[in-house]
Amino acid sequence: MKPERGQTMELRRTLRQTYALAAAVAAAPGCRTASCTAHSGLGCGSPTAFAGLLPDQRVLDLGCGAGFDCLAAAVEVGRGGFVVGLDLTPDMLRLARRHATDAGATTVGFVEAEIETLPFPEASFDVVISNCVFNLCADKPRALAEAARVLQPGGRLAFSDIVAVRPLPASVLSDLALYTGCVAGAVTMQNVFALLHDAGFATVDIVIAEHSSALLEAWAPGADLERYIASANITARKTAAPAAN
Ligand SMILES: C[S@@+](CC[C@H](N)C(=O)[O-])C[C@H]1O[C@@H](n2cnc3c(N)ncnc32)[C@H](O)[C@@H]1O
Repeated sequence: MKPERGQTMELRRTLRQTYALAAAVAAAPGCRTASCTAHSGLGCGSPTAFAGLLPDQRVLDLGCGAGFDCLAAAVEVGRGGFVVGLDLTPDMLRLARRHATDAGATTVGFVEAEIETLPFPEASFDVVISNCVFNLCADKPRALAEAARVLQPGGRLAFSDIVAVRPLPASVLSDLALYTGCVAGAVTMQNVFALLHDAGFATVDIVIAEHSSALLEAWAPGADLERYIASANITARKTAAPAAN
């Protein structure tokens, strides 16, 4: 269902607040323990591990957070390629820029924007990656339409994301903390497949990640999240023309 405008704005405000807090914890002086540094790596997989990145490619990371996947992608595409990390939370982008500077990465840049309205011309990228962000998008068809628009024809999408393995209960769907926590916004694999197809993607592949059980147990020990959600590796290719409905 397409969200009402007010609902979307409230959701974005809450997302910014949630991830600004995570960035602040990770950026704090003395943040060295695993539970503290974990606030800068908030993904649910490793999209660069299955994106099939090649030298010289142009890569966009949607919802880049603290930028770790951007840095990994920059290594894969080498000095002839480039990587753009995009996020709506300024504090996360500050952290990402710091990490890129510390790593000496010169082919990585960061942009503050929303996934649903990408500030790039058509066919600007060869690959679009994302790590645990698509589930957070209030307007998923629009997010995928934008990803398709900025990809060149034949370009590749590689998302790590949380999917629902069964319809989520109403009590979960209405819980904003579970939404910003990457649970309540998850849609079923069939839904992801249909959304990708409608946005003009083909060769869609959605595979439950090997680490899914361990990840969910680490997120909420004993909560049995596995009954409802899973971490998935999602790949697809942009077709030459949008699919006809
Ligand atoms: C769960 S974190 C994942 C961050 C990063 N990909 C990682 O693996 O660590 C989600 C990130 O997506 C960003 N985000 C959420 N919704 C967004 C949107 N609609 N547009 C842009 N960024 C968004 C948040 O600010 C946050 O940094």
